[in-house]
Amino acid sequence: MAKLTILEYPDPRLRTKAQPVEAVDDSVRRLVEDLLETMYEAKGVGLAATQVNVHQRVLVTDVSADRTDPRVFVNPQIIEREGSTEAEEGCLSVPGIFDTLRARSEKIRVRALDRAGVPFELEADGLLAVCIQHEIDHLDGKLFVDYLSELKRNRIRKKLEKERRDRVPVGATPTRSPVL
Ligand code: NI
Repeated sequence: MAKLTILEYPDPRLRTKAQPVEAVDDSVRRLVEDLLETMYEAKGVGLAATQVNVHQRVLVTDVSADRTDPRVFVNPQIIEREGSTEAEEGCLSVPGIFDTLRARSEKIRVRALDRAGVPFELEADGLLAVCIQHEIDHLDGKLFVDYLSELKRNRIRKKLEKERRDRVPVGATPTRSPVL
């Protein structure tokens, strides 16, 4: 397994639309392992392949408190949605920034392949539902800051650019909410 580098906003590669996986082979399983390792190391609750500059439709999540519930979604599709929910979101690609969005469905039904290539369906609500929607957005080249006003987005971009110039060490950013 290998820990991968996470792209950070406003890196234009985060805008790439990921391609469907044609076959869940060993290279895809290796990617899944690397995504999980990278997500756990970065203390995120979700990570999409786009964020590590791999443009295939693969994402991983673990929303459990004790970090023992890794879930893998290859070619995920939301096939049902219900309600709407307000949640505070953060993102490993937008470090240290949190904001409350009203952009997500409360309950979803998702269809995907698992790491063996076997199709499954899952009903999700709460944090898992928010997380899956956030990660599928990544696969479509979309970030949670896109739901904020242009003013806020510009402020965030400037803050991150300044922090990178000042070389704030990785991991020095306090987190107070789940980072998706
Ligand atoms: Ni994210």
